[in-house]
Amino acid sequence: MTAPAPVSRLRPRRSCLAVPGSNPRFLEKAQGLPADQVFLDLEDACAPLAKEGARHTIVEALNGGDWTGKTRVVRVNDWTTHWTYRDVVTVVEGAGANLDCIMLPKVQDAQQIVALDLLLTQIEKTMGFEVGRIGIEAQIENAKGLVNVDAIAGASPRLETIIFGPADFMASINMKSLVVGEQPPGYGADAYHYILMRILMAARTYDLQAIDGPYLQIKNIDGYREVAGRAAALGFDGKWVLHPGQVEAANEVFSPSQEDYDHAELILDAYEWHTSEAGGAKGSAMLGDEMIDEASRKMALVIAGKGRAAGM
Ligand code: GLV
Ligand code: MG
Repeated sequence: MTAPAPVSRLRPRRSCLAVPGSNPRFLEKAQGLPADQVFLDLEDACAPLAKEGARHTIVEALNGGDWTGKTRVVRVNDWTTHWTYRDVVTVVEGAGANLDCIMLPKVQDAQQIVALDLLLTQIEKTMGFEVGRIGIEAQIENAKGLVNVDAIAGASPRLETIIFGPADFMASINMKSLVVGEQPPGYGADAYHYILMRILMAARTYDLQAIDGPYLQIKNIDGYREVAGRAAALGFDGKWVLHPGQVEAANEVFSPSQEDYDHAELILDAYEWHTSEAGGAKGSAMLGDEMIDEASRKMALVIAGKGRAAGM
């Protein structure tokens, strides 16, 4: 049994940029974009015949590229294919020192996370890497994954995020829509509320981040903002971006507004003063017309924390 790694699993992930692992031009371009995270894809953005070559293209890009300031992730193929173990072995042996996480798609149960954790440990030991440093991101993309999401979220100390994969999920439950992330016509309410909340509760139970998946109408930035805004309002930490045009929108939507950030800092300062001896050691106090207490402090800390991480 290895000790959990002493790394912070809570990295900024407002914008998580998908980059096809088989396309060196995109791999080059991604390095210059202001995304918090990049994930180099061996799964659905990579054609079956291109997957083997893409493993090596990704290793070169991770080792030779400049990814300063970005969380570096590789999405491997899911365990029902025959590609997964070679994806992991090739990428982690080749570029494990320059890689932060492996993203596992279509996760269906906790055992699939445990299997990846064990494989990563074997490779880290073999290669002399720090054991446990490489994290895991789990995509929930079908009903079984969602039903098992609590166990999945608690399956390994390597886990950093639970990600909603709307495209595969919509297909898996027979949702009557072809527009990924948009509401299915005819329902009249938010068809994703239950799914997003379910994922968010599992993630928060284990101190993981919750990430919303792609929005495929890449020219419709207003539509992207609206869908991202719903996830952000619930408490999600970030969303995938498939196109440079979506990066700025994601960074904005998942950061607090300047007004909210300033107000949060004000609450924290006021609460600190009022609870101190000099301020009368009070349990609750007034800030203008607003009553603040310990719960207000916690809420303000969330907004202030996101703002500070965004450099506000
Ligand atoms: C992402 O992988 C999705 O299926 O939406
Ligand atoms: Mg998918």
